[in-house]
Amino acid sequence: MADIAKLQIGEDTFEFPFVKGTENEVAIDIKTLRGATKGVITIDPGYKNTGSCKSDITFLDGEKGILRYRGYAIEDLAEKADFLEVAYSLIFGDLPSTEQLDKFYADIKAQSVVDDDIKKIIDAFPKTAHPMGVLSSLTSALTAFNPSSVNVDSEEDMYNSIVKILGKFPVLVAWTLRKKQGLPLNYGSTSLGYVENVMKMMFEKPNEEYVVNPIIKDALDKLLILHADHEQNCSTSTVRIVGSSHAGLFASLSAGISALWGPLHGGANQAVLEMLEAIKEDGGDTKKYMAKAKDKNDPFRLMGFGHRVYKNFDPRAKIIKVAADEVLKDLGIQDPILDIARGLEQEALNDPYFVDRKLYPNVDFYSGIIYRAMGIPVEMFTVMFALGRLPGWIAQWKEMRSNKEPIGRPRQIYTGENLRDFVEIEKR
Ligand code: ACO
Repeated sequence: MADIAKLQIGEDTFEFPFVKGTENEVAIDIKTLRGATKGVITIDPGYKNTGSCKSDITFLDGEKGILRYRGYAIEDLAEKADFLEVAYSLIFGDLPSTEQLDKFYADIKAQSVVDDDIKKIIDAFPKTAHPMGVLSSLTSALTAFNPSSVNVDSEEDMYNSIVKILGKFPVLVAWTLRKKQGLPLNYGSTSLGYVENVMKMMFEKPNEEYVVNPIIKDALDKLLILHADHEQNCSTSTVRIVGSSHAGLFASLSAGISALWGPLHGGANQAVLEMLEAIKEDGGDTKKYMAKAKDKNDPFRLMGFGHRVYKNFDPRAKIIKVAADEVLKDLGIQDPILDIARGLEQEALNDPYFVDRKLYPNVDFYSGIIYRAMGIPVEMFTVMFALGRLPGWIAQWKEMRSNKEPIGRPRQIYTGENLRDFVEIEKR
């Protein structure tokens, strides 16, 4: 491939260098485009062809179904590592040694108490509030209790903010659930691992000792690992762009949580279960819903199918499908919703509409099924996704600030009215 891309506009030729990644991905660097061409910009709604940054964190190849964090294959991480090791490697670049991991977890645990006044904020929410709205608000509220802004030039300051949010976030997640269920807002135990502690905080009944089920713990560990990062998706781009204004880490994360909430992104796992419930209520006719999904005059989409970047298969879905089968088998769960899910999956995999468009079940098709089996309410599914995505958001924010990236500020092509006369209100 040539070293230079050439753009011809009329008589003029403009040259732009290529940028090449370590996996041979290629981009045209158009930083000088607007200045050189005196005003021409590119337009790319949805950013399908636009790279927003260079990043060392996550590599994915949507055609080949590859996902790697810091160079480690997702399949290896899901099988051999735990969530905290993965979090460490995303944030700091390499898998930790035992000493590094022990210190990291000790520092997180030291930060795992939230100001008791947070309970007053939780109390003010109605029980009907969506957990994602509550979580986003509480994450933003943490700023009020931890007001010092991060000096990104100080490794120590950065590190302290990171362990702080990794310590406090699971408490907010658990309390969001407990508020919904009318349970006392408790703490877990520092004697437990990160994921076990989350489970205890979420599920412990006030009058029963909580015993961690290892099968559920393993499945949750896997789910959190699979969701931990996914390069420049909607919520991660949000975190980076909000952080690029030098808003603090917690405020940037709060914005990321809001972005994740939508049904086309993290909210898909909730939407999958709601869709399956609706199909069941409607008599379980999967064919009817397949037809609706294919009808261009019907806004219905098969939730949990298709992906912006994976156009052959979602490698996370492959791993989690196996985990879902294990959890359901081990817990002996019989659930008509699951039969509907299996029916839809089979039909879609054999239907030319889905095959031709390369629409396959994504990770959220299966994650909702596991969360349901674990006894997590549907509205909490996206909160669980946020818990998993937290290290990725942190890593991306840290990279963006450390690289001193400029404020994110896209341009536009204005298509509105030209200058027109102001008309007094009585004459309109
Ligand atoms: N059901 C029915 N048709 C679909 C679906 C679906 N789930 N997904 C895409 N299509 C169709 C589109 O209508 C389009 O058809 P056309 O070519 O005839 O116009 C074609 O497939 C291509 O789809 P796009 O919209 O271009 O795909 P895009 O990359 O923009 O969107 C998205 C990807 C948003 C994920 C989409 O597939 C979708 O809405 N899926 C359902 C929601 C979902 O599961 N989201 C979770 C994503 S995973 C995550 O966030 C972790």
